[in-house]
Amino acid sequence: MSTTLPVELDDIQGLVRFGYKHHTEASFLLLRVSDRDAARRWLATVPVCTAETIEPPPETALQIALTGDGMRALGVADAIVDAFATDFVTGMAGDANRARRLGDVGANDPGQWQWGAGARMPHVVVLLYALPGKLAAFQRAIEAQCAACFERITCLTTSDLDGIEPFGFMDGISQPLVDWQRKRRAKDAERDEYTNLSCLGEYLLGYPNEYGGYTDRPLLDADVVGSRLPHAEEAPERADLGRNGSYLVMRQMRQDVHGFWQFVDRCAGGNAAARDRIANAMVGRDRAGVPLVGPANETIEGGGVPGDLNAFTYRSDPHGVRCPLGAHIRRSNPRNADLPPGRPGIVSWAMRTLGFDAEALDQDLVASTRFHRLLRRGREYGVGVSLAQALAEPTASTETGLHFICLGANIARQFEFVQNAWAMGVHFDGLPNESDPLLGTHLPSADGRPTDGFSIPRDDGADERITGLPQFVTVVGGAYFFLPGIRALRFLATT
Ligand code: HEM
Repeated sequence: MSTTLPVELDDIQGLVRFGYKHHTEASFLLLRVSDRDAARRWLATVPVCTAETIEPPPETALQIALTGDGMRALGVADAIVDAFATDFVTGMAGDANRARRLGDVGANDPGQWQWGAGARMPHVVVLLYALPGKLAAFQRAIEAQCAACFERITCLTTSDLDGIEPFGFMDGISQPLVDWQRKRRAKDAERDEYTNLSCLGEYLLGYPNEYGGYTDRPLLDADVVGSRLPHAEEAPERADLGRNGSYLVMRQMRQDVHGFWQFVDRCAGGNAAARDRIANAMVGRDRAGVPLVGPANETIEGGGVPGDLNAFTYRSDPHGVRCPLGAHIRRSNPRNADLPPGRPGIVSWAMRTLGFDAEALDQDLVASTRFHRLLRRGREYGVGVSLAQALAEPTASTETGLHFICLGANIARQFEFVQNAWAMGVHFDGLPNESDPLLGTHLPSADGRPTDGFSIPRDDGADERITGLPQFVTVVGGAYFFLPGIRALRFLATT
C-alpha cells in the first residue's frame, strides 16, 4: 500500500472537507422513502457537491446521508447493510443501553424526541447549504423533486448567529487538521506530544486510521460489482462500499439560554465579573473564544501558531486551576498525548504505564485524544438571545439550540466515546461525581449520588464547588447516518 495515493476529492462529499462557512444559510430535510423506485432514481442522479475546491464557491450545495433503515427502505440487501458498523446499524436510539450510555435518559429520552425514533426515524437527510439569500428557492426546488419519492418528517431550519452558539460563546474554533496529503505516518506507536494533525482514516473509511489500520466496512465482491465502486486499498480484489464515506452523527440539542444565565447569575450573586468567570469556567474559553488555560503560545503540530486560539494544551495546568478539569472543552478534547504527562525516563514511564503513580491514575481516565477526535459541522437554530435578554425575565420564546453534527469513521470510538466517557463520565479526570456542565443531565447516578456539581479548582485551597446545576441542554432528536462517497451513493441507489 502506498500512502501517496491521491485522494479522490471528486468522490467525497464536500462536508468532509468544508464547513460551508460562506454558505450561511442551511436546512436539513429529514425524509422517509414513500416510493422506493422514485427515491432510487432521484438518489442515483441528484447533483451532490464534492470535496473539490470550486472558486468562487457554488451558490448552493447539497449533501446526502442515509440511515441503516434508509438503506433497507431503498432495497439494499441486509447482508450489505449489516456489514456497516453495529452502532450505525442499531442507531442512536436503537437500544436502551446505548441511550443510557449517551445520557439519553430523563428529559433526553428518545421516547420524547421530535425525530429519530420509531416512525419518526429518518431514512435520508438532505443537507442544503446556500450563500446568503439563495436557500429559499433552492430548498423549494429540492422539496418539489423529493415530494414524489419521500415523505417529509420535518425540515430542520438553521440560523446564522455569526459563529456564536446560543449561550453566547464563540464556536467552531477548534477542529482536527485532517491529513488530506496523507503525510502523517499512520501507525499504532505511542506519541509523546499532543498533535492536532489527524489521519484521514479517522474521518473517511477506506484510508488508514490512527492505529495504522482500516476501519471495518462493507467490502464486496469486485467481480460482481465491477467498476461501480473503488477497490479496497488493503484488499484490491474487494470493492469498497465504505471508501470516501463517513459516519455523520446528528443531534438536535435545545438550549435553555435563560436557564443557563440565570443559574450562573444566581451563583455569582448578581455580580457581572463573577458571572462571566463561572460561565467561562464551564466552557473553558471566554465568550470571545480565548482559552482559559492561556496564554495560547504553544507550538502544536497541525494546531496553529503561538498566539492563535488553539495553540494550547493543558500541560501547564494539570490541576485545572486556570481551566477546570470538567470544563466542556477540556472534557471533549483533553489535548493529551498517548502517555500521561510525567518526567521522562524509564522509571517514570513504568510508573505511569503500570499505574503506580497517583496522578497518572486520574489521567488513566482520560484516554489518548488522537483516537477520539470529531470533525464538527453543526449549525445553530432558533432566535439568538442576548445576555441582557437572557438575564431578564423569560418571555414566550421560540426554541433555540444546536444541530450538533459530527463526522468520523468510527461512531463508537469517536462520538460515543467522547459523549459517554468524557462528557457524561462522572469521574472524568478524577472528578467527584460531576458531568459536563453544559451537556450533563445532572440526574443522580445509579447509586443515588448527586451529579449536579461543578468544581472550579483554586490554587490557594479547596475547590470552589457549585451545586444544583439544572439541565441546560436537552436532546430532542438524533440519528446516525452514513455520508457515502459519490460512487457508493449511486451504487446504493441502483443495487
Ligand atoms: C448545545 C450543545 C453544545 C454547546 C453549547 C457546545 C459549545 C461549545 C463551545 C462554546 C465550544 C468552544 C469552541 C471551540 O473550541 O470550537 C465547544 C467546543 C467543542 N465541543 Fe461543544 N458544545 C455542545 C455540544 C457538544 C457535543 C454533543 C459534543 C460531543 C459529544 C461537543 C464536542 C466539542 C468538541 C470536541 C469541542 C472542541 C474542543 C477542543 O478541541 O478544544 N460539543 N463546544
